[in-house]
Amino acid sequence: MAVVRLPGLVDPHVHLRDPGQTHKEDFSTGTQAAIAGGFTTIFDMPNNKEPIFTKKALVEKIKATKSNIVCDVGFYFGSLGDNLEEFGKVKKQTWGLKLYLNETTGNLLVDRALLFDIFLQWRRGPILVHAEDEAVPLILNVVEKTGKRTHFCHVAGKNDLKRIINAKEKGLPITCGVTPHHLFLTQEDEKTLGPFGKMKPRLRPKREVAFLWKYIKAIDMIESDHAPHTKQEKLGEGWRARGTPVEHPMIPFGVPGLETTLPLLLTAVSENRLTIDEVVRLCHTGPKRLLGLETEKNTYIKVDLKANYIIQNTNLFTKCGWTPFDGMRVKGKMNKVVIRGTKVFEEGKIITSIGKVI
Ligand code: DOR
Ligand code: ZN
Repeated sequence: MAVVRLPGLVDPHVHLRDPGQTHKEDFSTGTQAAIAGGFTTIFDMPNNKEPIFTKKALVEKIKATKSNIVCDVGFYFGSLGDNLEEFGKVKKQTWGLKLYLNETTGNLLVDRALLFDIFLQWRRGPILVHAEDEAVPLILNVVEKTGKRTHFCHVAGKNDLKRIINAKEKGLPITCGVTPHHLFLTQEDEKTLGPFGKMKPRLRPKREVAFLWKYIKAIDMIESDHAPHTKQEKLGEGWRARGTPVEHPMIPFGVPGLETTLPLLLTAVSENRLTIDEVVRLCHTGPKRLLGLETEKNTYIKVDLKANYIIQNTNLFTKCGWTPFDGMRVKGKMNKVVIRGTKVFEEGKIITSIGKVI
């Protein structure tokens, strides 16, 4: 046994699907997955079936949590550019604004002509962007002109990261995150994973993945982008004929990640590719700084750095019941979670539920 204590982890980017798509995930299963993965606080994205573009939708979402959340959950607001009058009303219930510049689940593309207005009007926490390729310099220009604190979500491409690093060096108020799937999978894996390796941004060739690892110090945080879809949806059961390409628009983008992020990172620690201090920076300090989150007293996790196990689809809390890392041996296992002095997880089991909406 080599058990170490770490602060409760913070995931700044998850999709819990509740309300609206609770066949994929719900607040109960999603937050259980978070706890099982060592995350005591998570931040949920606005691309629900009915997107969170109004105060009313946000209030409904908060209501839907009932008492069903096992970890603490914060929410982001969304915009296409036509709901600026709602911004002032949601300051107390949100932590930031998410904008989609590229295609992904939910088809929520922001009106690029309105970006300056949106940036200027948002006054509650950072603006988080899904921006790939030519959308990166576009956003950097808006940040430069408006001075608004901006976070680049799930950076995957070498050129995107280069541009972001250059802009940081120029002093722009930006941060960036990467996902575990972009660090631990490559485009090669698309062949074996098929639809289970389909996500946005797309998996990259080995040399681009190596670039992310090389510049890990320039990356501010890890975000799981936990994006559950059912196996049936991924397989296109009931409609997908043999030979239908994975690119078919009905096959959804996204992979779950809450339960596999920490064991994957600890495995990298065991291989001397990362240090424990880096894991804490990427999964605690970085996201906390982005969101201005206070430290919860007596909130910590314990992990066994020596324990080995095989990640298995059959052994997950997420409702979707699969992971692209099925069958992978990892070294480093979640042992215990304590929130505000109360033990909430031990030996693979959720013990009690004291999560709250933050
Ligand atoms: O793969 C993805 N899935 N990327 C995203 O940006 C959204 C997510 C989802 O909501 O399914
Ligand atoms: Zn996402």
